[in-house]
Amino acid sequence: SNKNIQVKLVLLGDMGTGKTSLVLRFVKGQFFDFQESTIGAAFFTQVLSLNEVTIKFDIWDTAGQERYHSLAPMYYRGAAAAVVVYDITSMDSFERAKKWVQELQRQGNPNLIMFLVANKVDLEEKRKVKNEEGELYAQENGLSFLETSAKSAHNVNELFYEIAKRLAEV
Ligand code: GTP
Repeated sequence: SNKNIQVKLVLLGDMGTGKTSLVLRFVKGQFFDFQESTIGAAFFTQVLSLNEVTIKFDIWDTAGQERYHSLAPMYYRGAAAAVVVYDITSMDSFERAKKWVQELQRQGNPNLIMFLVANKVDLEEKRKVKNEEGELYAQENGLSFLETSAKSAHNVNELFYEIAKRLAEV
């Protein structure tokens, strides 16, 4: 009994946290030290197979700059999964991530599968947000949590596989 599902996934988070870089790592296996800031949003697709389920991700990579904030609902409306990204070297980006989580909890799809992602773990020497802080916040708010690096590829495929697994259960 093969099953195909198509799902909308959205990435949200402060500018420069690595949303585009995570998607490019997952979709194309690429990483750029000088990744340009996204304007508005960018769209990508990728297919993952899990046992008998094929999941086609329609990925909306939103722009983190504050001036694009009002566009965000267009991208998270109808999304089955959301990835909220912060940068472990920036406490501000962690605070911004919490704001996104609150907005999604108030206005997102009630069955939304939400992941909190702490990116740039390759920059351990510049870390400002402890692993436990992210983990605790995620636990208290019913989110899944992963630390990643788009640069080293640490946990990037795992992130999308975890999301796919959760979607395949539904
Ligand atoms: P906006 O489009 O402005 O919202 O930014 P974004 O969240 O999409 O971030 P982007 O992927 O453009 O990355 C911003 C910068 O951080 C780029 O210079 C990337 O090379 C860098 N970067 C992204 N991920 C990582 C990572 O895991 N480690 C390191 N060291 N740098 C990263």
